[in-house]
Amino acid sequence: MIQAMREVIVAGNWKMHTVPAEAGQLARTIAARTRIPGVTRVICPPYTSLAAVGAALAEHDPDVGVGAQNVHHELQGAYTGEVSAPMLAGLAGWVIVCHSERRRDAGETDALIGRKLQRAIEAGLRPILCVGELLAEREAGQQETVVSRQVRGALADQAPATLEAARLVIAYEPVWAIGTGRTASGRDAAAMAAAIRATLTELGFTDGGERVPVLYGGSVTSASMDEFMAEPSIDGALVGGASLKPDEMAGIVTRAGLTATARAGSV
Ligand code: PGA
Repeated sequence: MIQAMREVIVAGNWKMHTVPAEAGQLARTIAARTRIPGVTRVICPPYTSLAAVGAALAEHDPDVGVGAQNVHHELQGAYTGEVSAPMLAGLAGWVIVCHSERRRDAGETDALIGRKLQRAIEAGLRPILCVGELLAEREAGQQETVVSRQVRGALADQAPATLEAARLVIAYEPVWAIGTGRTASGRDAAAMAAAIRATLTELGFTDGGERVPVLYGGSVTSASMDEFMAEPSIDGALVGGASLKPDEMAGIVTRAGLTATARAGSV
């Protein structure tokens, strides 16, 4: 029953794409093409385009959330080039924490990620925590162990009630599926959502972690979205490459809307 009530979310991660001069127009176009009842939409542009995207959406579709792609684990200090959670005030309502590209390129560890989450929550940002295994880990059958360890490592230091109040979202993103054109199967994604919620249960989350939305991410397109939304345990998608294409986003959010409508009808 809780699953039927869970929010359906499509978040677009623009990564290192767009300059401010084009970002507002792109956000406006995507917003206009994705106005589907019941789906929470979020756009995560680069830091430098947050203001442009925020201004465009405030004017044309304030229902679309704006998210940052990263946040620093300290509030302020001698951290050249970094951006802290308080600096995002008025620019973002959401933040992606611990994308695998940052684990890979910036050496982010689970412990560091826990601190980033804490800063995000203190600043009132809604976090999307990314977890996912490497190809070698899946081939060795370790995907559930790896993802459970990532979830535990990132969340263990916070009270589950605090994370629930912050409306934490978890995105399962197998690293081998990101930007490769290869997706997990819906069945595999559902198995990983179950592993994530089992870990949340161990950590003391209420209702077996059933209140926490779990998204799938990794080469999602309008063509593959159905595979994931057909799984009751998957609550939407974190979309990279396809999130820069209005046609793709229209298809992805439309498919998410079918699930949102079905859930609304079953409560
Ligand atoms: P992709 O990226 O859709 O381009 O695979 C997903 C992500 O990294 O969040």
